[in-house]
Amino acid sequence: MTTPATSPPLLPAQGLPEDELFARLETFREHDLATRGGRTWAYVYDTGRAEIDRIAERAYVAFLHENGLDPTVFPSLLGLENEVVAIALAHLGGGPDGVGSFTSGGTESCMLAIKAARDRARSRRTIGRGNLVLPCTAHAAFHKAARYFDLDTRVVDVDPVTFKADVDAVAAAIDDDTVAIVGSAPSYAHGVLDPIEALGRLALERDVWLHVDACVGGWLLPYLRRLGREVAPFDLSVPGVTSLSVDLHKYAYCPKGASLVLYRDREARRHQLFACADWTGYTVINPTIQSSKTGGAIAAAWATLHHVGDDGYLDIARRTQDATQQLVAGIDAIDGLEVLGAPEMTMVAAQAEGFDVFEVIDLMKDRRWYVQPQLSYGPSPANVHFSVTATSLEVVAPMLEDLADCVAIARETPADPGRDGLLAALRDLDPAAFTPEMYGQMLAMAGLGGGAQLPERMAEINAIMDALPPALKEQLLVAFLNDLFVPARPAPDGAPSDDA
Ligand SMILES: Cc1ncc(COP(=O)(O)O)c(C=O)c1O
Repeated sequence: MTTPATSPPLLPAQGLPEDELFARLETFREHDLATRGGRTWAYVYDTGRAEIDRIAERAYVAFLHENGLDPTVFPSLLGLENEVVAIALAHLGGGPDGVGSFTSGGTESCMLAIKAARDRARSRRTIGRGNLVLPCTAHAAFHKAARYFDLDTRVVDVDPVTFKADVDAVAAAIDDDTVAIVGSAPSYAHGVLDPIEALGRLALERDVWLHVDACVGGWLLPYLRRLGREVAPFDLSVPGVTSLSVDLHKYAYCPKGASLVLYRDREARRHQLFACADWTGYTVINPTIQSSKTGGAIAAAWATLHHVGDDGYLDIARRTQDATQQLVAGIDAIDGLEVLGAPEMTMVAAQAEGFDVFEVIDLMKDRRWYVQPQLSYGPSPANVHFSVTATSLEVVAPMLEDLADCVAIARETPADPGRDGLLAALRDLDPAAFTPEMYGQMLAMAGLGGGAQLPERMAEINAIMDALPPALKEQLLVAFLNDLFVPARPAPDGAPSDDA
């Protein structure tokens, strides 16, 4: 959209009429992925039932202006949260002493559990910097926690065939400075459950905090078990589990901004909480990271859980499971694609043999399917990831047809003879030698001009990223991000500005 140079592109002199501003808002999402309809196989969770969205939206808006800053002044939000936590504890093996907090998302839930583990360890004994023992399949949120809360990470390999945590490797990495170990139920990347019971025994034996990251699986797994699927024990009823995260904005299909961190008891949760009387203003009591926060997210979560109900979730779980079975069978039937591990829930990853998996992902995008690239790391090769949701059942057959076609095309795409040498050179780069010039060169190699642009095709970028050592990848990504979030500025005098 082009604005005359005379009108500042930032704050309009006169407020815009409602119709115009909503039309302009729509232009912002022209290039977004579809959130409904099943074509997007990551990031979004869709039941296929429009009335669930409508009810959640209504509840969200109804509590939009309440402020969760202080639970004593908006007791409605406290009441909603206590009910939602009670439902989740009953769902996930919480005992009579179980407690929890509603957070903005899985990352916040995981981070808070690690912060609590660190502070509990510090309250009990003298430790050095503190460390976190993570199977390499643990979500990036734990690295974020370690970096924010100044802990070391000890990343240990998982079984290269099952992609499950290797309990002996975890045991070997624990020392006197370990504040927590982590198990996933399941891991996002491969959809497999770590052996939580064995990790629980280890946690008790070594007296360390075990956090179960059930962000993606906590809501759905109990329903799959009720449908007859074998699901190993993973929740708070497992001895040795101190805390568990479960996202309501994933398989409980609540609007984004809804997760829970649950604790075995209040003694553990106490270390999460923050109170401050050390300033001139109002007394601050914050259970979670945010202070002021909308009541919309908790109201919408409460409404979604109560509207869908137990039967509804069971039905949704059945459809999601059927879609996953069709997906896995369909991938198995495509020559050259191989499912990694044995997915135990609804997240499926497949590697390619003899062609570029990232090329397939771009070809799928041309056909309006979003499937997610996962770079190689440790024992996990580069692969394509699918998060199956209830609505996937309606589209899994046509998606698989397109996937088979795209694989056939990728197989015939000749490999660039110079590329392997280039990628091998990237593998040997020293992260300490990273410079802004190198950043520019890599963007150019990937076919990007530099600066803040969102690329259309990702295959080249993913291939380059895949080849780089992780520390260098991270530096490159930070440089990219730093260029991406650059404020729109008024156009120079006389020049038209493109503010779309
Ligand atoms: C296992 C697991 N843990 C944590 C997270 C982080 O959740 P969020 O994106 O809500 O912060 C995710 C997200 O996919 C996840 O799958």
